[in-house]
Amino acid sequence: MSASTALRPVLPADILARKGGTPLVVLTAYTTPMARIVDRHCDIALVGDSLGMVLHGLPSTLGVTLDMMILHGRSVVRGCQKAMVVIDMPFGSYEEGPAQAYRNAARLMAETGAPAVKLEGGQHMAETIAFLTARGVPVMAHIGLTPQAVNTLGGYKVVGRDGEAEKVMADARAVEAAGAFSVVLEKVPQGLSGRITKALSIPTIGIGAGVDCDGQVLVVDDMLGLFTDFRPKFVKRFGELGLAADEAISAYAAEVRARSFPAPEHAFADVLPAKEPKT
Ligand code: KIV
Repeated sequence: MSASTALRPVLPADILARKGGTPLVVLTAYTTPMARIVDRHCDIALVGDSLGMVLHGLPSTLGVTLDMMILHGRSVVRGCQKAMVVIDMPFGSYEEGPAQAYRNAARLMAETGAPAVKLEGGQHMAETIAFLTARGVPVMAHIGLTPQAVNTLGGYKVVGRDGEAEKVMADARAVEAAGAFSVVLEKVPQGLSGRITKALSIPTIGIGAGVDCDGQVLVVDDMLGLFTDFRPKFVKRFGELGLAADEAISAYAAEVRARSFPAPEHAFADVLPAKEPKT
């Protein structure tokens, strides 16, 4: 039985047990209605801090706050019955050290009901990941391109080519040894992500990391085609909901202007119809 057809919510141990098995299916979700759909088909609903850009129009994930993650995290937890909800720790909420990370991870879990958090960083985050996992906070790690470090990385580039490959491998081994139950590999070249997947005992979840990972994650709005002007190479569009929404809103605007919407069937009568007299 795959994790997504289990009768109880998926837990970190279930994800760990899927290493090398049927690929793990992960999508982001930020709201209850989308979480309900993701819950029907996915093993994990990730409340990614990408919500800052996707929902709030921020230029990067750096402006996302703990309160935003808690608000959206609660909303997603309400929509999920089976899929495990994982919540991103936002920029500035964990980097100072293990105690700060624990305090904020505990808030995320206690105030949303989610059973796990995700944080970005490899070797330099190993001590924090070990501290959290030893104290009841399951951690999904995130290495390769770590968007919260966009300003030090110098853009949203592929990470792990040439001389960088061994550093990414060392990051992967460090988060595994620290107790992470899985690791996201973002924009890591395919050969390297395959080597990492073989080397680790925890599942790798790829985004722009090729075919060999133990699972895949995408931003749900990207794969649904909700953005008409954003087409990264690693995203396949499984729908064109942006175009569908544009057409629907354009039709609505035209009908309102032409006074063809609302029609009589959308209106309420002033007087209730008289009841049939009793015979
Ligand atoms: O914030 C996010 O949505 C993520 C995924 C893209 C992995 O971290």
